[in-house]
Amino acid sequence: MSLTNYFLAGPDRDFDLDFTMAEEPTKTPHIASQRVVASPTRAAIFQVLTLKPLAESRTKVRSLCASLSKLVRAVGFRSPEGKLSCVMGIGSDAWDRFIGPPRPRELHPFREIKAGNRHAVATAGDLLFHIRADRQDLCFELATQITLALGDVISAADEVHGFGYFDSRNLLGFVDGTENPVEDDAIEATTVGDEDPGFAGGSYVIVQKYLHDLDGWNALSTEAQERIIGRTKLSDIELDDNVKPTFAHNALTTIEEDGREVKILRGNMNFGRAGQGEFGTYFIGYARSPRPIEQMLENMFIGRPAGNYDRLLDFSRAVTGSLFFVPSLAFLEAITP
Ligand code: HEM
Repeated sequence: MSLTNYFLAGPDRDFDLDFTMAEEPTKTPHIASQRVVASPTRAAIFQVLTLKPLAESRTKVRSLCASLSKLVRAVGFRSPEGKLSCVMGIGSDAWDRFIGPPRPRELHPFREIKAGNRHAVATAGDLLFHIRADRQDLCFELATQITLALGDVISAADEVHGFGYFDSRNLLGFVDGTENPVEDDAIEATTVGDEDPGFAGGSYVIVQKYLHDLDGWNALSTEAQERIIGRTKLSDIELDDNVKPTFAHNALTTIEEDGREVKILRGNMNFGRAGQGEFGTYFIGYARSPRPIEQMLENMFIGRPAGNYDRLLDFSRAVTGSLFFVPSLAFLEAITP
């Protein structure tokens, strides 16, 4: 199926945009995706929940799958300019417990990586809610409603409240998100197609919570920081290949398959508690297969070649790591309690 047949669900998308169906009647019908591709917002909540092994859990999760878009509409409608959206992801074990067969072809638990003193840890997570809006109150209200809907079947929650920082910068002072694919390229990069027809319109997502050693980072010269990131700090221009080290973050996360660059879509956000010396980046990456993100992680943690690792990790420690499948909106809404 051509990915142009997909369209995005959401308040500012027109369902009539899908002209291609009439011209290509033999192709798989279009499938509405969750709001994976969304313009950057000023606020986000990342909720990773683990659920108790109760009979009730299954019913609660399945009811929420079917009703989530109604909750988003109810909260978002009160302030449409706030651009509220939510993506729900389901972890590998949770898929078996709450959804059942068949399974998305590439869904598996997050694979931890250990190399030297670098560790991409794997942590528990049954469900992910990636809530975005321009206002934190909208995110918070939706997170509250989701939590109320699941009630006491939640056994643990890692909830990170993210904020946009100045001109899309992270707390290391660099602009973050510049090389993200946009529009059709973003849909192409993140949407499962014919490779797994039963799950077309879905995506894979990996999240990791990173804590930064800001004192150590700020002790570096700006030039040293720029060589680690691979871009200039103030103007956010990519370094020339003749000055950019092979260990630069944007070199190690540029990957090719069959001579073509493979992109992922990131929605990183900042979080922290200044008084407690906590400064972090919440990494979230979407793709139509987990492989490119896993390849990037290997390049960063192990190195390309091995040992030529990402120096960002000398100043950033991953404290969580989970992988989820994001079913299409149609799939989610067809789940019966
Ligand atoms: C400590 C956590 C991280 C920080 C602070 C960070 C920061 C950045 C910054 C500042 C850029 C350059 C601007 C841009 O194009 O967005 C960048 C690019 C990028 N990052 Fe990260 N990143 C982090 C983790 C990751 C991880 C875990 C992955 C993938 C597994 C990743 C994948 C990418 C990709 C694909 C690019 C674009 C490369 C290009 O095409 O030029 N990042 N990141």
